[in-house]
Amino acid sequence: MTQPGARRPASPALPTSQSLPDELDVLVLGSGVAGLSATVRLASPPEMGTSLSDGLRVGVLTKAELWRSATRWAQGGVAAVLGGDEDSTDLHLADTLAAGAGLCDTDAVRVMVDEGPFRVHELIAMGAEFDRQPGGAFELAREGGHSTARVVHAGGAATGAEVERALVDATRRTAAAVLEEWFALDLLVEGGRCCGVRALDAEGRVVDVRARHTVLATGGAGQLFAVTTNPAEATADGLAMALRAGVPVADVEFMQFHPTALHHPAMPRPLLSEALRGHGALIRDANGERFVDELAPRDVVSRAMAAKISSQGVEHLWLDATGLDSFGSRFPTIKASLEAIGLDPHVDWLPIAPAAHHLSGGVVTDLSGATALPGLWAAGEVACTGVHGANRLASNSLLEGMVFGARLAEAIRRGDDGPSPTGAMRAVLHGGSGGRDPDGDFGAGVSVQAGRTGQAGGTGGGVTAIDVEKTVGRLQRAMFEGAGVVRDAGSLQAAATVIESVATAVGTATPSDRAHGEVANLITAAEALLTSATLRTETRGAHARADFPQAADRWRRRIVHVDGRVTVSSEAVDPP
Ligand code: SIN
Repeated sequence: MTQPGARRPASPALPTSQSLPDELDVLVLGSGVAGLSATVRLASPPEMGTSLSDGLRVGVLTKAELWRSATRWAQGGVAAVLGGDEDSTDLHLADTLAAGAGLCDTDAVRVMVDEGPFRVHELIAMGAEFDRQPGGAFELAREGGHSTARVVHAGGAATGAEVERALVDATRRTAAAVLEEWFALDLLVEGGRCCGVRALDAEGRVVDVRARHTVLATGGAGQLFAVTTNPAEATADGLAMALRAGVPVADVEFMQFHPTALHHPAMPRPLLSEALRGHGALIRDANGERFVDELAPRDVVSRAMAAKISSQGVEHLWLDATGLDSFGSRFPTIKASLEAIGLDPHVDWLPIAPAAHHLSGGVVTDLSGATALPGLWAAGEVACTGVHGANRLASNSLLEGMVFGARLAEAIRRGDDGPSPTGAMRAVLHGGSGGRDPDGDFGAGVSVQAGRTGQAGGTGGGVTAIDVEKTVGRLQRAMFEGAGVVRDAGSLQAAATVIESVATAVGTATPSDRAHGEVANLITAAEALLTSATLRTETRGAHARADFPQAADRWRRRIVHVDGRVTVSSEAVDPP
């Protein structure tokens, strides 16, 4: 399949630990839209038109090359109110809340929809080019859960690659250090403050990178599952580091499955963008019948598809895009990918099945991106700002990264330090700790253990590279089978048993390379996801329980992991 981001910016020589300053002002972990949106503002490039005078010494640490983030894979565009007579930020807010199924933080959503259009224009000022109509107005598309067309794309379905290109260029010009091929092992915490990370440098030496502020922007966790649209880098690294450091993490049971991933051996699964359905593509079952509203929110479509796949005993269903005119000019990258494997969307129905796509939860932040640990910030998919609730609205994730990456940069420049009780942080600072789960116990009677804390859980000496591959495969299959689109107590317990045995086999030695570090992180994140999914005895958004098929009002609460314990927020989220 065609890889996005073909225009690869040149990499300078990899910096060594010797070339690092003793202490950076800010260390950004991850190089997707959230991390680089923060970086370019903190380092104050003149083209941002900022009134802030001095650039801070910002280092970006990334485990691959700077351009190789999940952002560049994003086909879906940026949802923002940029035109369209019928649209308004109130409508965008209402659609986001509806998709989030009662668990969004309304203030956080308000911030995102109000500031989003401005951030898009800033990105354009930095050089990003979005698709426009002949007269110059934005070409706006409709996607699932949106009541009107409000999604702006670049290159048809290559939006992430264009956003990433603009930000990578700006970062290369402004960052004090770009640490490519480094791997963060764990957060450094001293005196109740985050002061950087312990990392493996590009040569595999253990190095402490010290910084006054550390930004987690490490992206998602799709590699927890055997079938995913996420690139190989999405191994829940920031989430796991936060869990081990005892920093509150919430909503991790809400892994969103994208309904229309191409059913094809390639991994990550090639995505057939939701914009195709926005333009009229239809979902058909094994008999060629339609059975679901193609523009319903993603959780609804994925669940209907999972039920159909099971009742018809098939491996996949079909996306019928044969009625779309101008497929090639609107979606050139998707067309090229399909042609490469012998499919012609004008005549062929396209085989599709749901695939793990986006984690709605993560490290809990306030409205400025501050986590509960002073000196530690988070933005993008690794964060739980509260904007996604139980199910992210299509194309809200690039937007979230742009808005909250910028907000945390502004907060750091203002001198903010430590969280305020706003956004999802309310679940932590307003009686999150000690809240009992509304069922009074672990409802389904399933034994679960909280994620591990302390030293990087890991593999270390004695485990061979082939063991790593097998171990990851075992974990991913167990998670896909046990904690996939539809779960129940039995399937979650079965997955937990496999993860426990994987964890035992792997041990707790400090990882000596990136591959072993990633395994450790996947185990830590899998344990947290299974714990939360077992505890939440209801169906809500992306969390569907066959044994608890209804949403329960008493569960309008966040499940929070903190210091190795699991708590439930004692206040309901945004009570109606
Ligand atoms: C898509 O284009 O379907 C993916 C967009 C998204 O995940 O928001």
